[in-house]
Amino acid sequence: MLFLQLPLLAALLPGSVNAEVIHEHTTFRLSQISYYANESWAQTLGSAWLDELQTHRWDSETGTVIFLHTWSKGNFSNEELTDLELLFRVYMIGIRQEIHTYSTDLGLRYPVELQVSLGCELSSSESAKGFMQAALEGSDFLSFQNTTWVPSPEGGKQAQKACDLLNLYEGIKQIVENLMSKTCPRFLLGILDAGKMYLQRQVRPEAWLSSSSILGSGRLMLVCHVSGFYPMSIWVMWMKGEQEQVDSKRDDVLPNADGTWYVRVILEVEAEDAVGLSCHVKHSSLGDQDLILYWGHSLSMSLIILAVVVPLILLIVLVLWFKRRWSYRGIP
Ligand SMILES: *[C@@H]1O[C@H](CO)[C@@H](O)[C@H](O)[C@H]1NC(C)=O
Ligand SMILES: *[C@@H]1O[C@H](CO)[C@@H](O)[C@H](O)[C@H]1NC(C)=O
Ligand SMILES: *[C@@H]1O[C@H](CO)[C@@H](O)[C@H](O)[C@H]1NC(C)=O
Repeated sequence: MLFLQLPLLAALLPGSVNAEVIHEHTTFRLSQISYYANESWAQTLGSAWLDELQTHRWDSETGTVIFLHTWSKGNFSNEELTDLELLFRVYMIGIRQEIHTYSTDLGLRYPVELQVSLGCELSSSESAKGFMQAALEGSDFLSFQNTTWVPSPEGGKQAQKACDLLNLYEGIKQIVENLMSKTCPRFLLGILDAGKMYLQRQVRPEAWLSSSSILGSGRLMLVCHVSGFYPMSIWVMWMKGEQEQVDSKRDDVLPNADGTWYVRVILEVEAEDAVGLSCHVKHSSLGDQDLILYWGHSLSMSLIILAVVVPLILLIVLVLWFKRRWSYRGIP
């Protein structure tokens, strides 16, 4: 998938975006999560995302878009952005009224929870692929495909009815189609370009190891923590020599407050098998230079031995030397 996208983007954005950024940022998505308690009370969370990075927020009090980064406007003019804002405002009011109007016909019962996702993805075909999906009460309800509203299997008769109804409105279908397959790809390419300084930044990971013994089993849980890296994609693995430890368990990559990422990879081993293990990290910011941390058991044991034995030997030597000097003095 990634490899297919490369020639396309290389053609679209000559020399301006490297492979890593393309890999990280290929989808732009508007997200709406609405809770309609009753006909007069609703709450909406609206946001926009460049893959996993939030770029915009919807202020439902004022019906305006909040730009979260200096480059969140992409290359759109203020006029065009104002028009879009107005469109979303009209939609938010409209959808609420429609739910109220058709709740009986569709068999909807308050409270109603609606999730909508609209966006586009840069794909291998000559242009971007648009998508729009809606879920009701947390399960898939309908989607927009090939300029038609299509019910999801999970949506049952309710979704079929809703689609029959929605498909009557040619004007709305035209607007959605335009947003998905024209406005969105244009905006996505503009924002990738405007934000490239931020999106292409490389931040090196820090890594550290920790362990705990699993009670009553003689086993150890070794944890390799990797934090503060950007972009998000990373490879972390416990190894013994050249051997990848396939039992390594990787947790989800979590965001740090500063926009970088954190992940941990856990390996459970018999205590005596921990010797010789190391955690390897590959990340674009490191180039070919993998970050490697050795599990310090054997090392720290020999360090302890060194730390104890060397002073002891020194002490003995000193004592012997003094003894000799004293005895030299004593004898003559
Ligand atoms: C609508 O729901 C809100 C929040 O639950 C509640 O405070 C309000 O009284 C309800 N209004 C009506 C007309 O039921
Ligand atoms: C989409 O619509 C076009 C024309 O109406 C049709 O030729 C094509 O087969 C449709 N594709 C799908 C996946 O439904
Ligand atoms: C923004 O950038 C995209 C991609 O480079 C381009 O297609 C579009 O014409 C530019 N301008 C506007 C106003 O969208």
